[in-house]
Amino acid sequence: MNRIRINSPGGESLIILGGTVDDVVTLLPQRGLFIITDRNVQKLYGKKFPPGEVIAIEPGEKSKTLRMVEEICSKMLEAGADRSSFILGFGGGVVCDIAGMVASVYMRGVRHAFVSTTLLSQVDASIGGKTGVNLGEYKNTIGTFRQPEFVLCDHAMLTTLPEAEVRSGMGELFKHAVIRDRNLFFDISASAGHIIAADTAVTGDLILRAVRVKAGVVRHDPLEKGQRRILNFGHTFGHVIETHSGIPHGVAVAKGMAIAAELSVWKGEMAHSELRLLQTALEKAGLMTCHKLPPDVVSMISRDKKSESGRVNFVLLKSVGRTVIRKISTTELQAFVNYYNEKESQSQ
Ligand code: GLY
Repeated sequence: MNRIRINSPGGESLIILGGTVDDVVTLLPQRGLFIITDRNVQKLYGKKFPPGEVIAIEPGEKSKTLRMVEEICSKMLEAGADRSSFILGFGGGVVCDIAGMVASVYMRGVRHAFVSTTLLSQVDASIGGKTGVNLGEYKNTIGTFRQPEFVLCDHAMLTTLPEAEVRSGMGELFKHAVIRDRNLFFDISASAGHIIAADTAVTGDLILRAVRVKAGVVRHDPLEKGQRRILNFGHTFGHVIETHSGIPHGVAVAKGMAIAAELSVWKGEMAHSELRLLQTALEKAGLMTCHKLPPDVVSMISRDKKSESGRVNFVLLKSVGRTVIRKISTTELQAFVNYYNEKESQSQ
């Protein structure tokens, strides 16, 4: 078992990697527990839930709304939750985003923690204190920063995931390597088959190394004033693709990373050989979906959280493992989108 601590002004967060879900009860208060989960996770793991009030939501992105936050808060109030209550988010990315949000607003904030059940959430969503819900088609536009007291990642839980969910998690696993750790990138690429086959020893080691990358960034910039932006690599295009096509988050992020890498070459920041290296690894992992960018991509991006006064803070690559942040105007972005879509049309 490995423990990683993230200390931030909002408190300490302990990430337990390779622990077992059976131990979660020892980390929790004895009374006042509220478990927020989804119906799939409840079916699979309900018997392992520690004693507490269970609130199960519909699985999937469509549950990430303010209305859902309100519904959960109402159920908690009816069940007698007060400021001393403790929320345990038990599930994947959507559950962690919503449970964290509820914990940060219910009675102006209650304690919370996660049992993280998917590859995507073990490697990214449950770690670092971001909470959020969507505003219509705009992802995570309403949210807060609030560190969970602990995140328990039991890698054995990854064996019950459908392949599409594992592949989605692999997108975020790759992201941490591509922004900061070139050796990890090569190791993930060489292990794609083991990850898909849910080989927990191999995957557990890769998750540990990716979480070290993320924890290192979050420790320095928990509120995303600067450096933390690199964790959004691939997300600017990825969110637009996810909204338009409905493909899983991590798969959309992988495609978004490939497009951001093309933008890096187009801007003269990165050599073409590095782009090919990334594309080849993503292809091999089954993560290179074909997507032209939709006509409203630039207007969608300009409403993204990463935009400021008509310019977008773009995370680009210098090479696989090294990033640079550049401000790009919407005019320049439109020129790139025209170039990119023209190229995609010719290759189809
Ligand atoms: N998923 C990006 C971040 O936590 O900052």
